[in-house]
Amino acid sequence: MAANLDTGTAYEMKPSSHRTDLTEVGRGKPMGELLRRYWHPVGLARDAGEVPVRVRALGEDLVLFRNLRGQPGLVHARCCHRGTTLYYGKVEERGIRCCYHGWLFDPEGHCLEQPCEPGGGAFREKARQPWYPVVERYGLVFAYMGPPDKKPVLPRYDCLETMDEGEFVEADDSSLGGGGPAIIPCNWLQHFENVADPFHVPVLHGSFSGPQFTNLMASMPEVRFEATPRGVAIRSVRPQDDGRVFYRVTEAACPTLRVVPNPRVAQFARVESIGWVLPLDDASFRIYVAGRVRESGELGRMRSKFNGKFWWDMSESEHQQFPGDYEAQVGQGPITRHSEEHFGQSDRGVMMVRRMLRDQLDALAAGRDPIGVSFDPDGPPVVFEAGNFIREA
Ligand code: FES
Ligand SMILES: [Fe+2]
Repeated sequence: MAANLDTGTAYEMKPSSHRTDLTEVGRGKPMGELLRRYWHPVGLARDAGEVPVRVRALGEDLVLFRNLRGQPGLVHARCCHRGTTLYYGKVEERGIRCCYHGWLFDPEGHCLEQPCEPGGGAFREKARQPWYPVVERYGLVFAYMGPPDKKPVLPRYDCLETMDEGEFVEADDSSLGGGGPAIIPCNWLQHFENVADPFHVPVLHGSFSGPQFTNLMASMPEVRFEATPRGVAIRSVRPQDDGRVFYRVTEAACPTLRVVPNPRVAQFARVESIGWVLPLDDASFRIYVAGRVRESGELGRMRSKFNGKFWWDMSESEHQQFPGDYEAQVGQGPITRHSEEHFGQSDRGVMMVRRMLRDQLDALAAGRDPIGVSFDPDGPPVVFEAGNFIREA
């Protein structure tokens, strides 16, 4: 009887768990605190305007605006008077005015007016709307949501500072590459570690759903993974018919930077864009991109088509027939089941990304600064190794 017993049935499955240390982004959580040591893009610079915009970042609800003097502000959504949202506020010369009782806050949360209080608010300096510092760069608004005494400088990146002839920097907030909606309903790490997973490219984007990128990318690469001072570098080599090799380097840089050269390989060149993965909360994220372009709108036009269609024009059965990054990553569930994974040789990069993040958590716990933060305003720009190159073998 024992010989006929079925093995490996789903009935034997144990309850699963996930790496809370790496996935949870709220304040006070290990990863939440690590992420809060860095600047994160929270909107396009052009989003910050006279109409307040809802921002969700690292599990917090915020409101982004720009006062009529041109200063952007990022404040907690709930008014410090009696808690309505400033999303319904009005932007004025000096700041944002709450719709409920008219308290006026400047971009740093100072309460400037309390019209219902005697004398316009004799004690108004006692009320401070919680706020975060913001800096505009590369067409994005970056926010620092961490401890004020640990605020690093907002890094400059060589690939966005040094232009080739005719290039300029543009920002985009729609997810690039695989298509899909702007807000992706799964944990940020499922996307970020995918940067170090070059083996999914010939399968998911090569054969499974038809060639989504160029034929250059369709063959199985020989891959080396290496820790760098910035994170993890993935070096893929693909021999070509003419005897040369296609050499592609991508980087997963701490904490959330996708440094991925164009998968369509329009040219052999250094990386042209950076993507920041912003965790909105534990179970959703979005991507901000800044890149060198020659025509405006170029970044948005880089998105994949499946079966000749954009992601949002596809039917359910087309999504099933032509899955891309969205389907594969959201298919891992809101937070993937880390306890049930089976790692192979090809998952070394993913393992390295997780270890790199774990090392930074340990550094933080030991009172050290994580990699990739600098407090030197005159420091040199960050130079990435990423790019598509063609080489003699
Ligand atoms: S709740 Fe905002 S002013 Fe009263
Ligand atoms: Fe992909």
